[in-house]
Amino acid sequence: MVIPSYKLAYLLIIYAVRGIIWQMSDKTSKPEAEPKNGLFTDPAGVPDAKDPKQAGDEKTADSYSQHSSFWAERMRSGGSFSHTHIEKPVMYEKMARLAPGSTVLCIGCGSGEECAEVAEMGTAKVVGTDISAGLIDEAKKGFPDIEFHVAAAEDHAKFAAESFDVIYSSLTMHYVKNWQPVFTDYLRLLKPGGTFLFSTNHPIRWGMDMVRNQGSRVTTMLLGYTAEPDTLQVRIYGDYLNHFTKHDRFMKKIQVTYYNRPFSKMWHDIKNAGFDIIDIVEPKSVEKDVPERFSGFSKITQKIPYFIIFELKKPLTSPTHEPVNPTNSPAQ
Ligand SMILES: C[S@@+](CC[C@H](N)C(=O)[O-])C[C@H]1O[C@@H](n2cnc3c(N)ncnc32)[C@H](O)[C@@H]1O
Repeated sequence: MVIPSYKLAYLLIIYAVRGIIWQMSDKTSKPEAEPKNGLFTDPAGVPDAKDPKQAGDEKTADSYSQHSSFWAERMRSGGSFSHTHIEKPVMYEKMARLAPGSTVLCIGCGSGEECAEVAEMGTAKVVGTDISAGLIDEAKKGFPDIEFHVAAAEDHAKFAAESFDVIYSSLTMHYVKNWQPVFTDYLRLLKPGGTFLFSTNHPIRWGMDMVRNQGSRVTTMLLGYTAEPDTLQVRIYGDYLNHFTKHDRFMKKIQVTYYNRPFSKMWHDIKNAGFDIIDIVEPKSVEKDVPERFSGFSKITQKIPYFIIFELKKPLTSPTHEPVNPTNSPAQ
């Protein structure tokens, strides 16, 4: 079929105008990667992910230490909404069952408030560790009856085998680059049948990119993409599938480096370390007593997961399963 030249010219004009409109709208509404809060991902991914001796990030530890009195005061005056309404209710409900009569190691204990809370649940003993010397100082001052040590989560070699019934760790494991060797060591620390209970960043929420239209105060968190059918251009927001480093500023003050990893990687690392999975919780926020200023956040957390909680068990006998190898996964 031959297209008459006047029709061809007409079609070309239509496409040219559409192209100009697309470009204009792209310029005015295109969200920008948001470096404002210091949040950006490291395109190089996780460097040297095979070094199990890498014990924590010095700058993160220093930043927590620098703000340790602010942190302690904040925690002792009620903590953050994420703590009080999303994560701690589940963690403490589980600990109320696990704690009585137990020896508990609390890893990433911050300024010690959780150790004190857990100790009140009828434990035989609680030991708290954290990478930040400043936070451990606050913990010792605040709770002199509890034993505290400065130690990276990756380096608990000095604790004797089978010395704990429960390892409790709240919102700290995302700071640990390589879970498997670290979790294998936690298995050594636990008595047979012992529990490793931990909460960590949820890879859906923390895999999102923060974007903001130029000049707007509205923050948009995205994990998704746009695709333009004519030009085949795609724009991707966030990254769920890869194991990568994030640099961020926490509570507008504390400079932190942590790691995002997909659920499949979490599962492989847990299984390969030798733990059995007893429970997984993706907590929604508790809708009771929500302060007015957190009403929006509370609604978000009814639908978007911020944290994930794992209750793991050390088998009574040595694990016999074959290692689970990720297939088709870049998340090594
Ligand atoms: C979000 S705070 C949680 C503190 C406490 N568990 C709570 O929920 O209140 C994270 C804690 O992890 C500690 N941390 C960061 N990297 C760590 C590492 N590699 N080893 C041990 N602790 C670490 C920080 O010093 C900080 O106390």
